[in-house]
Amino acid sequence: MQVIRRRGWEIPEHRVTPEPIVLNRRAWLAAAGALAILPAIARADQPAAAAAGSAPVNPAFSNAGRAVTDAKYATTYNNYYEFGTDKSIWREAQALPQRPWTIRIDGMVGKPRTIGIDDLLAQIPQEERIYRHRCVEAWAMTVPWTGFPLSKLVKLADPLASARYVVFETAQDKSMPGLSDFYPWPYTEGVTIDEAANELAFISTGLYGKPLPPQNGGPIRLTLPWKYGFKSAKSIVRISFTDKRPATFWEALQASEYGFWANVNPAVPHPRWSQATERLLGTNERIPTQLFNGYADQVAALYAGLKNEKLFM
Ligand code: MTE
Repeated sequence: MQVIRRRGWEIPEHRVTPEPIVLNRRAWLAAAGALAILPAIARADQPAAAAAGSAPVNPAFSNAGRAVTDAKYATTYNNYYEFGTDKSIWREAQALPQRPWTIRIDGMVGKPRTIGIDDLLAQIPQEERIYRHRCVEAWAMTVPWTGFPLSKLVKLADPLASARYVVFETAQDKSMPGLSDFYPWPYTEGVTIDEAANELAFISTGLYGKPLPPQNGGPIRLTLPWKYGFKSAKSIVRISFTDKRPATFWEALQASEYGFWANVNPAVPHPRWSQATERLLGTNERIPTQLFNGYADQVAALYAGLKNEKLFM
C-alpha cells in the first residue's frame, strides 16, 4: 500500500500567507536592511566570512529581465527539508554552524582532499550574478548571488577524464530536526560534467551582497537557474566525481514526479499541477514560465542528443 505523505510543495496556494505587493527597483536598497534584521549567521568565535558576500557584478548577469525580489521574501520563504517542510524554517536554520566548514572532494579525481571553505574562497575570485530561480512548486524569485562558476571548482578538483557526473552531498547536522523524518538523507543532487561546465552553473556563497544565510544554503550551495530549484543543493559538504548517474534525493523519493534532469519547461506539467505559470515571491503576480527558465540560449545545446530522456521533470 502506498503511504501518502504531504510534502511542503503540496501545500495548497490558499495556505500560503498573502504577501504585500513590493515590486520596485528599491528592492536592492531594502535588501541590505532586511538582511540586517536577521540573526548573525556566524557566531562571534567563528572567523568572519569576509571573502563571501560582496563582490563585483559580472556585467553579463547584471540584469535578469525582472525586478529583483525583496530580500525579506527570498530569505524567509525557503525550502530546506532538513529543518522541516514549512516555508518558515529560516529561524531554525540559524542554528546551522557556518564555520568551521569543510568540503570533501573525492571519487574520480586525481587526488581526493578536504578543503576548508575559507581556503576555497581565497583561491577562486568571487563575482555577483542576478539569476531567476524557479521552484518546481511554481513560485519564483530573482536574486543576486555571490560566488563563482562551478567550472572553476571542477578545474580545482581535477577530475579524471573518465568522470561523467558531479554529485553534491549536503550537510547532516544535529541542528536539523528534519533528519528524523523518513526522507532518503543525505540530500544529494547531481549534474553531468557538461552541465557543470556550462557558464550558468554557479556555486553561491553570498546573497544580496552578504554571506549566504543558512536558510538559503549557507555557507555554500549550488545554483542552476535553468533547472527547477530542487537541483540547487544547499549547504554542500561533499563533491564527488563518478561515471554513474547518481540517484538523487527527490528521484529516490518519487521518481515518477522528480527526475534527474529537471529542466524548467512550461509545456510539461508536474503530474499533479501545471507548470505553465509561476508566482513571483513578494508580489504574488502570476507570469508565464519560460522554457529553461528563459536560459535556453545558454543551455539548450546541452540536451540536443538526449531525445529519449525525461529532460523536463
Ligand atoms: N537543499 C537541501 N539540502 N535541502 C532542501 O530541502 N530544497 C531545494 C533546494 N535545495 C532543498 C535544497 C528546493 S525544493 C528549492 S526550491 C531550493 O533549494 C530553495 O532555495 P531557497 O530556499 O534559497 O529559495
